[in-house]
Amino acid sequence: MMKRSIYIALILVGFLSCCISNAAFAAIGVTDLRCEMLYNPQGISTTHPRLSWQITSDQRNIVQTAYEIIVASSKQKLTLNEGDLWDSHKTISDKSIMVSYAGKPLTSRSQCYWKVRVWTNKGTGEWSNQPANWSVGLLNPNDWQAKWIGYEHGFPRDSVSKFSRLSARYYRKQFQTLQSIKKATVYIVGLGHYELYINGKTIGDQVLAEAPTDYTQSVLYNTFDVTDDIRQGDNVIGTVLGNGRFFTMRPKYKPQKIKEFGFPRLLLQLEITYQDGSKKTIISNDSWKFTANGPIRTNNEYDGEEYDATKQLTGWNKIGYDDSNWLKPELVGSPGGKVAAQMDAPIKIMDTVKPISINQLKPGTWIMDMGQDMAGWVQMKVKGNRGDKVTLRYAETLKPEGDLYTANLRDAKATDVYTLKGGDEEIWHPVFVYHGFRYVEITGYPGMPTLGDFIGQVVYDDMANTGQFETSNTLINQIYHNAYWGIRSDYKGMPVDCPQRNERMPWLGDRATGSLGESFVFNNENLYAKWLDDIEQSQKPDGSIPDVAPAYWNYYSDNMTWPGTYILIADMLYNQFADKAPIEKHYASMKKWLDYMRQKYDKNNLMTKDKYGDWCVPPESPELIHSRDSSRNTSGELIATAYYYRMLYLMQHFATLLNKPADARSFSALALQAKNAFNQKFLDKKTLRYDNNTVTANLLPLYFGMVPEADKKAVFNNIVNKITIDANSHISTGVIGTQWLMRGLTDFGRPDIAYHIAANDDYPSWGYMVKRGATTIWELWNGDTAAPAMNSRNHVMLLGDLIAWFYQDLGGIKADEPGFKTIIMKPAEVAGLDSVNASYQTPYGLVKSNWKKHDKQLDWSITIPANSKAIVYLPVNSISGIREGGKRISVASGFKYLGQDRDEAKIEIGSGDYHFAASNYFE
Ligand code: BGC
Repeated sequence: MMKRSIYIALILVGFLSCCISNAAFAAIGVTDLRCEMLYNPQGISTTHPRLSWQITSDQRNIVQTAYEIIVASSKQKLTLNEGDLWDSHKTISDKSIMVSYAGKPLTSRSQCYWKVRVWTNKGTGEWSNQPANWSVGLLNPNDWQAKWIGYEHGFPRDSVSKFSRLSARYYRKQFQTLQSIKKATVYIVGLGHYELYINGKTIGDQVLAEAPTDYTQSVLYNTFDVTDDIRQGDNVIGTVLGNGRFFTMRPKYKPQKIKEFGFPRLLLQLEITYQDGSKKTIISNDSWKFTANGPIRTNNEYDGEEYDATKQLTGWNKIGYDDSNWLKPELVGSPGGKVAAQMDAPIKIMDTVKPISINQLKPGTWIMDMGQDMAGWVQMKVKGNRGDKVTLRYAETLKPEGDLYTANLRDAKATDVYTLKGGDEEIWHPVFVYHGFRYVEITGYPGMPTLGDFIGQVVYDDMANTGQFETSNTLINQIYHNAYWGIRSDYKGMPVDCPQRNERMPWLGDRATGSLGESFVFNNENLYAKWLDDIEQSQKPDGSIPDVAPAYWNYYSDNMTWPGTYILIADMLYNQFADKAPIEKHYASMKKWLDYMRQKYDKNNLMTKDKYGDWCVPPESPELIHSRDSSRNTSGELIATAYYYRMLYLMQHFATLLNKPADARSFSALALQAKNAFNQKFLDKKTLRYDNNTVTANLLPLYFGMVPEADKKAVFNNIVNKITIDANSHISTGVIGTQWLMRGLTDFGRPDIAYHIAANDDYPSWGYMVKRGATTIWELWNGDTAAPAMNSRNHVMLLGDLIAWFYQDLGGIKADEPGFKTIIMKPAEVAGLDSVNASYQTPYGLVKSNWKKHDKQLDWSITIPANSKAIVYLPVNSISGIREGGKRISVASGFKYLGQDRDEAKIEIGSGDYHFAASNYFE
């Protein structure tokens, strides 16, 4: 009897524990499957894509111990777990991001469907339930049968001059399919921009496609699965071509400076597979028809778009349209660049903004305020008579009298014109241009424009907003808001300096460190990887790298700070995203550039060539753009040599990563020589000041690790004194110094000064911009008073390392191992800031840091994603000052105490949600 009950009890225990462990199994999920960091990308450029996933669980301390990936050539096979392309089988590994495909060789057009399951230390997950997929694009030049078509002339109404006007070109091709369709794919390059239609339907929701490049070097195509859009019988494929950067905004103006590519061109291939496996291909060639006499009369990124609805070509992209008076396109040459798949996300309408007011300035003229400086356009609703013409002029600010202030747009006309066809309500927005603006002047509007007639559409690259940041200081929150709007304004298939004036150029220096801060806010990995390709393609055979890439403007001025962005961004992509490919791909070109600079400008180990100095320091008088005061500016040679050292240091690190020990040794030797020469020349051994003792002059060597150990304290004191005494705790640095300032002050023990600088609201500061009504970040500290020639209200370069500091030091979220496999959680202690809520989507998943201070106690909620871990710093003298979930912590409960680091206890935790309380006053 007794025995029996024990037996039953044992069975029960077994059953229960089985239920529990099954529950544990069920709690492990796999989500967020990405191929080359993209969701279900079509037409990728590689046959060895890197696959990533995230693990979800409601338990703590989840570590992946193995994975199995199945890649099948069809959905059906995948459902049956038939990995005919690849079955990795159970692979022992904790790698859950950037796992390279290692199955059967893929070729152009391969279709791949995939799923993954994981084993963890806490149970096995189910297969990822949403099958993911990718397809390979056209990898070889001979995959393309399509011909480049275009028309290499303007029409009488066009003007190919400084303020060029060129109407959009409409292309169409009617064709027949004889059977039902199994698969149809379009590959398209429409230069500069295209819209694509099949049977009247818009294909895709991309705008301003495809991403801009130097078309003589590379040309990017987009791929669309159009299986559901092609029908058996007659079909029409149509595209509209706009100018973009291909037919440049200021042609025939400064030929030495501005690169021209030619008139818009199309390369299109539609591949159809019928149900029986036979194929048909429609290609761009001279059997197509085109007209330039459609509604888009002109489109110029600086000057705006004019659309005449009375010229609409009704039904042009559907069957049955009479195109007999359309023209035959010319077969034209390729622009020269290698045709490759676009691997960064397309630009889309990412957000909308409702205007906050429309006021009549004078009869017939209204000023609309969007309430936010933004980049994109306005969509308008209007009802009126045929031929009525509405003009929209865009600007960032108003004059005191209330009309638009356009002096800072330089010669950009920033004007859209819409001519009504009349009758019913018409809805319109431009498609081939964008504007940077807060205010819109409306003239010619029939009737009274109301707020409901307009909506702002925010246009930038389709990248996830990965970070959230909020503090107890509302001014800091507004600065963050301004930065967020600036960053999204200035992504346009490449990072540009500004969205409004006649510039919008991808200046390298603006993003050197800013890109790191940006990477917390947006998933900008593929965009920056693409930009490194642009930079490489702009390199001259001798090694020189320009300041603007793609080199639409010719600026090969040779300096360390702007081109050095090439190396800094590769480093950022590695640290933030664990993406090593850019370092591998660009190492040779980076090395070549450094060799070139060394051979040409290294004199006795000093880098003698600079161009921009500490660009845009706060000047001595309010109307100045650039300071002429030598005590505010920092020596170009000092900046160049410090950056030279930094670049050599990073290259040494890259060489080590790539297992090139001889290179690493040689970079390290050069770095040492540069450091010695630098200290010899610029460090005053008596005062321990660098050169003229600006913050930047002391900060660069200190942050870069060039200062002799014994002198570090004194050098840091120079910085502290300069800021707190000479600058009254305000910023005194420009684009260069500001890149290292906030983290430098924090790393050397004075986060309070950094916080003071960030929280200032008087001149010069980011807060001053806010107080003066800014909703983005200005190009100049004195943007409200400086001359208009170089005074954009929407630039990101003055952010320096502010956003990185917000996340890394105020939020306390920093990558230790690349890609946040190990995370350092260490918020800086700053008096006056009572709470921060920060979160960031790492490649492994969401990390959160929400802290609050009250009564000498820190309350801190932390989330660490599965398959990563964190080193957490808590401000207590010993582990006994820590509670988690109200309890003391111990090794047994999964916390590893790593000892004290000055006043902070260091513990290691695994994934999961935690709520810490830390106080030296706990008993
Ligand atoms: C741009 C800057 C750029 C600088 C360098 C300016 O006109 O707007 O952002 O870095 O020139 O010359």
